[in-house]
Amino acid sequence: MWISSAALLAMLPSVFAIPLVEAPYPGLDVTLSQVEDTRIKAVVKNVGTEDVTFVHINFFKDTAPVQKVALYQHDDSEIVFEGVEKLFQSSGLTEDVLTSLGPGEAYEDEFDVASTSNLSDGGRVTLHSEGRVPTVENGTITGSIPFNSNKLVIDVDGTKASEVAAAMKAKHQKRTAMECCPSSEKHFFLKAALENAARLASQAADAAEWGPEARFQEYFRTADSETRRVVAARFRAAAAEASSTTSGQTHYFCYDIDELCTFNILAWAQKTTNTIANCNLYYAFLHPTAIKCHGQDQASTSLHELMHVPGVFKPGAKDLAYGYKAVTALSPADALNNADTYALFANAVHNDC
Ligand SMILES: *[C@@H]1O[C@H](CO)[C@@H](O)[C@H](O)[C@H]1NC(C)=O
Ligand SMILES: *[C@@H]1O[C@H](CO)[C@@H](O)[C@H](O)[C@H]1NC(C)=O
Repeated sequence: MWISSAALLAMLPSVFAIPLVEAPYPGLDVTLSQVEDTRIKAVVKNVGTEDVTFVHINFFKDTAPVQKVALYQHDDSEIVFEGVEKLFQSSGLTEDVLTSLGPGEAYEDEFDVASTSNLSDGGRVTLHSEGRVPTVENGTITGSIPFNSNKLVIDVDGTKASEVAAAMKAKHQKRTAMECCPSSEKHFFLKAALENAARLASQAADAAEWGPEARFQEYFRTADSETRRVVAARFRAAAAEASSTTSGQTHYFCYDIDELCTFNILAWAQKTTNTIANCNLYYAFLHPTAIKCHGQDQASTSLHELMHVPGVFKPGAKDLAYGYKAVTALSPADALNNADTYALFANAVHNDC
């Protein structure tokens, strides 16, 4: 068939417009290699065509005991990560927690996986890393880009691995929802935040179960009734935990018990010990209650942290995306497993946005 050049040109926009507009940004490519024993090197490369600036908290280059790779045993079961998940502010981020990479640029990081997991059983372990990292414009989180690594298989010498010092100090014995607080001011704000978090979580549980379908769909990416039931159950468990400061499964510290707070960090959680701790920034930067749509505040930040700990609801939620834009772009399975999705949904219910 013969097509005139005019007809061809007319066809161009409809043929090419969709891939050009919707092509996903390729993101970051991570190459994992073994340095020695359980010491691992990661090379993180921007494989896209644009400059990117992202937050490297909880990511390669963070010097805290954060999860950089997932570890799997020979039977494909995941090995428990015993480190920490940090929650940071979504605006006002400082340069020291940001990494900028031009197209083709890369950086390296080295870490020891035996410091954040018990590998004393030894044997063959597979390492893999994938997810999304928050992107930043002018100090504010505006989106996220994906990262993905090779699958690295290493043979672990259990004796050597058990000699690597554990990064976290396990010193949390008592079982009370709110641990003894040395500052009466912090005690006052955390107590109020937990009361507010309990209220937010109860409202969110009702909205998840019986509220408008459109809002649930907006955050959890599905209107499936079983998903609504599970989300409501997690919110009810968080409400019950937050409404008691004398009982529960969580150790909630008003201060940085393990010295993991640096600037930009609001709070951190450690799943294996059901521990949460607030940083000074939580009190200095956040308003006590949720007054701004899609914003951060003390109550919803505490709710976010309660979503992480498996003592509240199993499995503890992960940090797969932060902020409204990244959260509302997750798959339904990831949304259900993402702590900030719950915090932002509760905020939206409370502020009717
Ligand atoms: C690591 O796991 C082994 C069992 O696989 C256990 O005997 C040991 O106590 C654990 N070590 C620590 C520090 O928890
Ligand atoms: C960046 O943020 C600062 C402070 O919030 C603001 O004054 C400035 O106008 C912003 N710049 C751009 C390019 O958005």
